[in-house]
Amino acid sequence: MTANDGDSASSGAMLDGARATIEDYLAEERLFPPPDALRASALVNSEAIYDQAADRESFWATQAHALTWFEPWSKVLDWTPPFARWFVGGKLNVAYNCLDRHVEEGRGDKVAYFFEGEPGDQRAITYAELLDEVGRCGNALRSLGVERGDRVAIYMPMIPELPVAMLACARIGAVHSVVFGGFSAEALRDRIEDAEAKVLITADGGWRRGQPVRLKASADAALEVGASSIEHVIVARRLGEAVEAVSMSAGRDLWWDDVVATKESHCPAEAMDSEDLLYLLYTSGTTAKPKGIMHTSGGYLTQVAYTHKYVFDHLPERDVYWCAADIGWVTGHSYIVYGPLANGATSVLYEGTPDHPGRDRWWSIVERYGVTILYTAPTAIRTFMKWGAQLPKGHDLTSLRVLGSVGEPINPEAWIWYHENIGGSRCPVVDTWWQTETGAIMISPLPGVTTLKPGSATRPLPGISAEVVDEAGARLTRGGGYLTLSEPWPAMLRGIYKDPDRYEATYWSRFPGRYFAGDGAKIDADGYLWLLGRVDDVMNVSGHRVSTTEVESALVDHPSVAEAAVVGAKDDTTGQAIIAFVTLRAGVEATAEHGEMLRGHVAGKIGAIARPRTVVFTDDLPKTRSGKIMRRLLRDVAEGRVLGDTTTLADPAVVEELRTRATEQANEE
Ligand code: WTA
Repeated sequence: MTANDGDSASSGAMLDGARATIEDYLAEERLFPPPDALRASALVNSEAIYDQAADRESFWATQAHALTWFEPWSKVLDWTPPFARWFVGGKLNVAYNCLDRHVEEGRGDKVAYFFEGEPGDQRAITYAELLDEVGRCGNALRSLGVERGDRVAIYMPMIPELPVAMLACARIGAVHSVVFGGFSAEALRDRIEDAEAKVLITADGGWRRGQPVRLKASADAALEVGASSIEHVIVARRLGEAVEAVSMSAGRDLWWDDVVATKESHCPAEAMDSEDLLYLLYTSGTTAKPKGIMHTSGGYLTQVAYTHKYVFDHLPERDVYWCAADIGWVTGHSYIVYGPLANGATSVLYEGTPDHPGRDRWWSIVERYGVTILYTAPTAIRTFMKWGAQLPKGHDLTSLRVLGSVGEPINPEAWIWYHENIGGSRCPVVDTWWQTETGAIMISPLPGVTTLKPGSATRPLPGISAEVVDEAGARLTRGGGYLTLSEPWPAMLRGIYKDPDRYEATYWSRFPGRYFAGDGAKIDADGYLWLLGRVDDVMNVSGHRVSTTEVESALVDHPSVAEAAVVGAKDDTTGQAIIAFVTLRAGVEATAEHGEMLRGHVAGKIGAIARPRTVVFTDDLPKTRSGKIMRRLLRDVAEGRVLGDTTTLADPAVVEELRTRATEQANEE
């Protein structure tokens, strides 16, 4: 890595008459071409696929033909900005594509999920078994009066009944709305009310860090007032005897074992229109009211199957795939349920936390099932860095071939650590950029084609058009600005549930004709894209726009730092000042000298403009439930308090405030 000085970087960005909006300081020069062995066997190993995608609609039609359609489409795309319809008139069933066709083609005995519960219980579920269970659940929902188009809320731990419930909805044409099991009763109630869900599927609870989490109790609290659309609650048994009996409301609540297990498994799959709603998934926006993101059937399944296959170089006969997200987030919807099942994958489904009973739980899982593809988030990787490389070293991880990252910009040091300590320096790391709204991966390397640069998501996938623009919406070919999508894509959100105006205003008004959902990005001299975090995470220091991601990367680059979060706080002199919250690796002492040294380290890597005014040492950083650092909260803390001039030594008051405010905010979500 080299440190650029600000002047040459910003003048270099003045191309096309458009000026870079976010300045470009940090340069990463390590290159990782595809390993020969992987390239030789990869599904895609040449650039030709990018050329084939030049005719976008015919390229996507080819991908859609990988699915089974009950009736063909008449038109690939109908685009009336900002409303798209893909594979117009085509009929299919998503669950049929995920299950029946594999069984009909003789692969019923293949394992769909290796389920591992946190307490250590294990179950292998084949495609034939999954199909039967989905059929029973579909019949149970029909018996409760659920019809095509009705909404079903799902609030469950990571147990096999969760994908079964989702697929059962898809089978009968109902729309699921999965609410992450870590959300509160209020969050569940708000989402049920917005979706007007008829049935809620939940469980008595699940296991997390050795403790039972009582989901049914939260569900009861959610239904106590409001949420009156719910007619029935189906309750799967997970905790059973381990906890006190859950209360069941007569007439409303039914045990899964009574209502699902008793049904017959044959359950005809509805022929759904390509544009019929498959699911709603609520995501927080800038206002308090969460947005119900709408995903439909044909285009969504086409793109999740295509990306799962090519981004991870997945072959069902060869790979054991593990996406370690929670199904309650979009990553789990697209890359634990729909993409892998459409491709006939064998996946791992793990219920619990990475540190139970020991901090090597994940590595024991990789070893036990011979996992070949692992997909996780930078926050998990940085946690493993903090715990130390000796834990993965204690396990045989040689089955791994491809590693993936999603959810946040991955800083180069975490990338390198992942590559070396988990991937044994032989596995490409695919950094995949996408969002709940995009439904599927948009920007990512292809492991058999792309030369990787640690920290860069590289370039848009074949079929996807992503462009960086300046404040005025002019396209940049170099330097930093706003990441936009300039052409519709099959898995794109079709809107915000019941709120088309908010859909247009949120995503399509900032740059007319372009989709913009809030991320900054820069393009380097080779045309590689570097995600810079949300644009509200860009700081303005003495008139220079500095990305929080770059300063965080420089901090984590220092061997003593496990994790860092950087925010801009108001400063009378410089407009904003850079405040760095730093978690040190085990055994490193948080001293004033150490803070000074880190400030100097950042200045050395990036330039004096990026030297943090203050380094605050803290044991933990506040994170959202999906593991994103809560920068807004950190900024409030940084602005609301007088922080020392240079270093705040693990100030107990600051740390305490972080902890209580993070808890409050999580409860409000
Ligand atoms: C961020 C998760 C940088 C980004 C799939 C985006 C990323 C938001 C990356 C969406 C990545 C996701 N590099 N940033 N590889 N992947 N993001 O809706 O800010 O939970 O807008 O979807 O996460 O988060 P969401």
